[in-house]
Amino acid sequence: MADKKIKTIGVLTSGGDAPGMNAAIRAVVRRGLSNGLNVKGIYKGYNGLLNEEIIDMTAKDVSDTIERGGTILYTARCLEFKTLEAQIRAAEICRKHGIDGLVVIGGDGSFAGAQALAAQGINTIGVPGTIDLDIACTEYTIGFDTAVNTAMEAIDKVRDTSTSHERCSIIEVMGRHAGYIALWCGIANGAEDILIPENYDYDEQRLVNNIIDSRKKGKRHHIIINAEGIGHSEAMARRLEAATGIETRATILGHMQRGGSPTCKDRVYASVMGAMAVDLLIQGKNCRVVGYRNGDFVDFDINEALAMQKKIPAYMQEVSDSLSHNYTKNTEDPEL
Ligand code: ADP
Ligand code: F6P
Repeated sequence: MADKKIKTIGVLTSGGDAPGMNAAIRAVVRRGLSNGLNVKGIYKGYNGLLNEEIIDMTAKDVSDTIERGGTILYTARCLEFKTLEAQIRAAEICRKHGIDGLVVIGGDGSFAGAQALAAQGINTIGVPGTIDLDIACTEYTIGFDTAVNTAMEAIDKVRDTSTSHERCSIIEVMGRHAGYIALWCGIANGAEDILIPENYDYDEQRLVNNIIDSRKKGKRHHIIINAEGIGHSEAMARRLEAATGIETRATILGHMQRGGSPTCKDRVYASVMGAMAVDLLIQGKNCRVVGYRNGDFVDFDINEALAMQKKIPAYMQEVSDSLSHNYTKNTEDPEL
């Protein structure tokens, strides 16, 4: 618990940007101001903190931002912040600017930074912002919903041209080491195969067989969603084309998945989570991360949150398999 009342809070975004981060910033600023706090925005994540790129924020500064993708505070990756020397200096900078509570919007890496700052005496609260959905303590991360919808729409478009040319398409989606975006898009787009790093067995012969089976059944396309954590889609496409004789193209969706106006869900969750982070600081809490579990917004100790493991839901994966290339196993349906 904090030993004094919080007067000034700071907010920064760190790591990869995510749609909805602006809604979270807006909530932090307005919740803070409405509770009589001063709110400072820190540009470019921990980089900006170390460079003292710190501004006072007013309610107006966050007008017309809830619907905008990206982050108005900019974001960065800052390797230097992993050093104790930088963390000590950052804490001194916070004290110099009167920042006695800091909201960090980002992923696990950013939370490790928040944990380090808390160890230097700055009250920190993490808000989960990443399109990857790879934060173990929460079922929801800001940006995931927008990203999967963006990817889903793009994959529908690739499918149109893939069908017209009777091709196989490998579509690579983001997610760093996690397969959540791939799994969700795989189901939403009715992909024939979904490759995720958590359990891919590198059995390309199985993919070759699936593509040939699809063609025999009269399918005009074969969509493979490949997660970034597996990668190498271009080379995979060349190998599959050589093995099947079926024209195969790779499409890497890339950073377009991180942009765009946030969905309603991302705006709402980000708003609640941002406000809750401020409430936690006001309550004197420190070194916590906000999460969403079993229908409730909750908070965890950052140390515990970072130690948690997250697994791809096995049942979801099994269902996705049964709806794609494996579905004839039980039904023997010769149709598409
Ligand atoms: P994300 O927050 O999305 O997981 P990164 O893993 O790239 O993204 O981390 C964002 C930033 O958080 C890093 O560039 C660094 O500034 C900080 N960070 C990451 N890991 C640590 C760590 N172990 N200690 C201190 N800061 C860290
Ligand atoms: O963490 C979000 C994310 O988009 C990952 O899915 C991806 O691996 C990474 O960031 C890409 O980072 P960068 O913007 O540095 O290319």
